[in-house]
Amino acid sequence: MSQARIAAPTVIPAVHLLAPAKLNLYLDVLGQRSDGYHELETLFERIDLADEITLTPQVDGVTVTCDDPTLDCGVGNLATKAAELLRRTCGVSQGVAIHLAKWIPIASGLGGGSSDAATVLLGLSRLWSLALPVESLRELACQLGSDVPFFLEETAFAVGRGRGDACEPLAGPLPVLWHVLVVANAQLSTKEIYEGVVKNHQAHPPTTPLTASPASLTMCLHALRNGSLGELAKGLSNALEPEAIRRCPVIKDVQTCLRTSGCLGVMVSGSGPAVFGLCHDAAQARTVAQQVRQHGAPQWLVRVVRTFDGALEGASGTRVA
Ligand code: C5P
Repeated sequence: MSQARIAAPTVIPAVHLLAPAKLNLYLDVLGQRSDGYHELETLFERIDLADEITLTPQVDGVTVTCDDPTLDCGVGNLATKAAELLRRTCGVSQGVAIHLAKWIPIASGLGGGSSDAATVLLGLSRLWSLALPVESLRELACQLGSDVPFFLEETAFAVGRGRGDACEPLAGPLPVLWHVLVVANAQLSTKEIYEGVVKNHQAHPPTTPLTASPASLTMCLHALRNGSLGELAKGLSNALEPEAIRRCPVIKDVQTCLRTSGCLGVMVSGSGPAVFGLCHDAAQARTVAQQVRQHGAPQWLVRVVRTFDGALEGASGTRVA
């Protein structure tokens, strides 16, 4: 006599994903827009410093937890916003518990919150089997923040225009870059940095460009495509850097330390205070990092990082030395 089979409940396993940080190798502010944002031209690079995100299905609602008690896990968190937006847009009834293991320093110019949001959009689209067209996902990403569309692309390098949200991934072959990343224990508000740039500009004659970059995006792209690190170092530029230094003077000390340690070029990323030093290769980056740890302030976070061109799912190597 055959026994009746009792169907086991289907358990959907949790999904583990990476949310990598970015550097801006180049950032120019071209002008103010009528929507309150600024028109940008920027060159993004994804790096292998990444938050780790776990998405666990639950019956209802979105809950977010984080290993960093200083991070707001409520409705203000971009991961929460991303999950809620996707659920609302696609009429999803299932819920999700999101856990963030934060490795990317918060409010440092490395795009951690934006990357978390993009990874949640990608991860939940897979988890909930949403056949959302790429264009629709991009639209949602734009609603969440100017940098979010870049992280959606899963590309190593991209040019950002408009608010930074009009993203053009760069096709290879492109080099893997090595940097030493230093973040002083400070946080800066992107909004306040942009306001500072405008205020400073208003003190100058109206014919003066909003920012005056000594380099150009074309020069940077040319150097990157040719793998010419010396030229790329000369092309590193960030129009937000002077305002970031004004608000956070320790950035100057970080830059001096990276320069005297032999970096080819040194620049603030985004609205700071993160600073990166471009190095020849992995070996030089390790030597520079050692020197910065020796001569810099003990509370500075110092990491060797490289271009990240891996997948978000199942990848490893987040805890870089
Ligand atoms: O888009 P996101 O929310 O990341 O931007 C944070 C703040 O940075 C905005 O509220 C705005 O004040 C400023 N911002 C800007 N122009 C941009 C991007 C950001 O003024 N292109």
